Formats: sequence, C-alpha cells, structure tokens
Amino acid sequence: MLRKQSVILQTLLLNLITIAAFGRVDKIRVVWQGNASTSATIGWNQASGSDPILFFDVNDYGKIAEDYALSKQPDRVQVAEEMNNHFVRLENLHPNTTYYFIIKDSDGTSQRYFFTTAPNSPDRRLSIIAGGDSRNHRDARQDANILVAKLRPHCVMFGGDFTENDYPNEWKEWFDDWQLSIAEDGRITPIIVTRGNHEYSNKSLIDLFDMQAIGGFYATALGGDLVRIYTLNTLIPVGGDQRDWLENDLRIHGAKYHWRIGQYHHPMRPHTARKSEKNDQVTNWAPLFLKYNVQLLVECDAHVVKSTYPIRADNGPGSDEGFIRDDENGTVYIGEGCWGAPLRSNDDDKSWTRASGSFNQFNWIFIDKDKIEVRTIQTDGAGRVANIDPKNIFKAPVGLRIWSPPTGDVITIAAKAPAIPAYDDGMMAARGGEQSVAKYHPSEVPAVEDEAANWDSCPLVVIDPGTGEAQIKYNLEETSNVVIRIINPKLQEVTRLELNNQTPKEYLKAVKMNHLPPGRYLAIVKGDKKILRRFRVVKK
Ligand SMILES: [Fe+2]
Repeated sequence: MLRKQSVILQTLLLNLITIAAFGRVDKIRVVWQGNASTSATIGWNQASGSDPILFFDVNDYGKIAEDYALSKQPDRVQVAEEMNNHFVRLENLHPNTTYYFIIKDSDGTSQRYFFTTAPNSPDRRLSIIAGGDSRNHRDARQDANILVAKLRPHCVMFGGDFTENDYPNEWKEWFDDWQLSIAEDGRITPIIVTRGNHEYSNKSLIDLFDMQAIGGFYATALGGDLVRIYTLNTLIPVGGDQRDWLENDLRIHGAKYHWRIGQYHHPMRPHTARKSEKNDQVTNWAPLFLKYNVQLLVECDAHVVKSTYPIRADNGPGSDEGFIRDDENGTVYIGEGCWGAPLRSNDDDKSWTRASGSFNQFNWIFIDKDKIEVRTIQTDGAGRVANIDPKNIFKAPVGLRIWSPPTGDVITIAAKAPAIPAYDDGMMAARGGEQSVAKYHPSEVPAVEDEAANWDSCPLVVIDPGTGEAQIKYNLEETSNVVIRIINPKLQEVTRLELNNQTPKEYLKAVKMNHLPPGRYLAIVKGDKKILRRFRVVKK
C-alpha cells in the first residue's frame, strides 16, 4: 500500500516538474498554405508563460535554444475558442529541408519538434494523406491521427468538419487529438485546411490555422511544377469571385504543373441518398475541371467511401446524374469523409462509381511525374499498424489495412504523354515517348559546351544497385541556384534536378537513375549557370 502511494506521489511530482520545465505550450500545428517548399506557419496554444520565441534551425540542437541559428517572435496572437493561439509565419525556407524547432517562453522550453518543407523538384515523389470529417467519435479520430504519425506523409489535406458544433471544448479536444499525428521523434505533418459546414464561419480556420485566404479558397504548390493543390470552399457562393479566382489560377498557374488536384467539403454527387446534390458546384466548377484538366478531387461530408472512374459533366446518352465516364479527359473523384464522424450507408452509387463503402478512412496518395496512385486506408485499429520506414515512405507498414474492393486496391492515374519538344523531332523518337523524361522549353535547350567535355576525363560515379541512385557531390562557395542534369551519349537530357537558393557548403545529392536504361551518362552540376562539376555515370 505504502509502495503504491509512493509511486503515485512520484508520478505526481514528475508531472509537476515536467510542466514547469516544458512551460505550457501545447496544441502544436504546422500549416501549409501557399508555396509549401519555402513557407509554413507554426501555431500553438500558449497556456501559460509569456514572451514566447520560436527557435529553429536545419540542425537539431535539441532543447538548447542558444544553439539554434534562427529565431522569431509570433507574427500573430489570436485568442479564439478559449485558446491563446500563437502563430509564427516562416518564409524563405529551403525546399525539401527539415527544420527543427523549440518554443521558449518565460516558464520553460517546449519539446523539440520538426517538420520538412516540400521538395521543389518534380523528380521527388510525394506522399499525401487526404480526408476529413472528424467531428464526433474521438476514438476513431485518434486512430486516424495516429496513422498520420506512422505513415509520415509530406502533408495532410483536411477536408473540413473538424468538430461537431465549433465549440471551444471541442476544438481543444481536436487539437489535443491532433498531437497524436506527431511522430514519436517529434515529426509534425503539415496540414492544408478546408472549411466544412460544421465550421461556423471562415473565421474558425483564420483564427485557429492562421489561414491567410479570407475566402477560404487558395492554391498550394508542392514539388516545383509537380502538383498544385486547390482548396475550395463550398460554404460560400461557389460562383462569382470563387469561380473567377479558380479559373484565373488554373489558367495562369495551374497549366504549368504536371498535376492539378483539389479538395472541398461538399461532394457534387454524394454516395449516400441522405445528402443533397450540389448542382451549383457542377455548374460552376466541373467545366473548369474539364477545361484545365484537373486530374483528382477529394470530396468529404457524406461519411461514406467512394471512388469514381474518370468522369466529366455531361447530360447526354450514357450519362448518370449529369456525369459520364471519360477515361481520356475525366477527373477521378474520391472521398467522402470519414475521420470519425457518424458513418452513413453508401446507398447511392452511379454508373461511373468505381467502388463505395462505409467505414472510417482516409486516402493515401502518391504523386510523381508519371502517375498518381490512390489507396484507401481503413483507419480503425491504428495500434496494430507498425511505423513506416522513414527512408521509404511509399512502402506500406506491417498491419496497414488497405481497402481492396473488387475493382482493385490502387487507383492509378497515368500522366499523359509529354508534348513533343519543338526544337528536336528526333529526340522524341529516341526517347520512345517515355513519360518520365524531363520536359523543358526551347529556351532551356542544353548549351552545347556543357556536353563538349571529354567524358573519359570526368570522375566516375557508380550507381548504387540498392537504391538505383547516383550520389553527386559538389561544393558551393556562395548561395546559388543549382541545376543537376543527366545527359545520355546522344546529348539528350534525361533527368534534371533544380535546387534553388542552396547555401554555401558541401552537398551530396542523390539523383534517381532507376528509370533510365543501362549505359553511360554525364552528370553536369551548375551553380547560377556556371559549371561546377562533371561526372561520368555508368549504369550497368
Ligand atoms: Fe459536412
């Protein structure tokens, strides 16, 4: 008995010491909005203490604040939902770079966390978790959050309906549960937020996630020109300003990207009969999705599971509820919720429905230049799932339950063949129409002198047979925009890596070569257009 009491006392004391030493910073979140390669917002609740400062660095200095190279005071303090929300807006970050951070205030220092900015090269594959509707059942919500921590995606696209009534106690619980999406090593997954009908107004997201787009619609760029993510708002008029913005952005920016994907709350054609059709969205948005080739959309709200074949709006023969299957030009729709909200029955399939179901889930989406892959993950029972290998975040960990309906467990959206480069018709024939080749414009035709070097005089790099990567080493003496190009003996560029604003130091960059046939290649490293290194690369 005495022993038990002393254990309880010890535990109490430990908790008190922990609170004192860590200060009272909690409910941490990292938010992506505009350019995810160079910016992020870090938010938290300052429960006690004063004068918090965020210390951050590309090196991990644990809890030693003075060793961190960079620091920033909050850009915004917003009391909302009975939380003292603090936001630091980080800009001009390096792409594909891990930033470690701590928050130090008058009372103490937080735990050390980290997040990684998005790559800015389309040669890096992305992993994204997309889902929403977390409003009621905390156990189911917590399971899905735990899986975020275990799967270590580049980001989460969250489709709205965070809480039931938008009440303070519900939001506090939501953010407490969100901490389960932080991995054991302190890794935080950035979130891209969407408004649902259970958010009372746009202000909920403006105040809790520091959303800069006051209308709740905005675009987020990841992976250089790899993908542009459109977040739309179905709780305000979908025509007018929002439609105009969407069309302008798709026309001016979106067209430059390999992939255009999106998220919004209300499904156009819900797969439960209890939800109404959203004809306004069909009228205002669907024609733009077709015209500008939006390839994938994530819908929420209905609390069922669905995926469609590629479809476009059409009322002609063969159509169903105003859409028709079009494998060439259509958009794949996935969704519809459920991150812990009450499940509904999937009783409203259409002729173009690929699969439907009713269980807690999110979508696990892989994106590279060649294709998008979508899997549906059953999120209940997350405790049985192992942690993913951080070195291979595309290999499902043991215990992960990937839904396998009769139409298959993976939806693949293949890239369309690239346009033939205008300057060299012969090149396309040599490439055999491969989709993985780098695309470039006539103004970026490789300068002849780059390749004129005597290849045999260049140092040799051997490709690692395990990873299929070549390790390219170079040194920068000043901050530069670096381009690494791989060319074949026909002097055709077959791979290109662009790394902007690299700081002076020695680099060892892994360049993927596994998509290339065996043979001899030349790697050329340029910093601000000057040649830094050349290597012979041999693939056996
Ligand atoms: Fe909803």
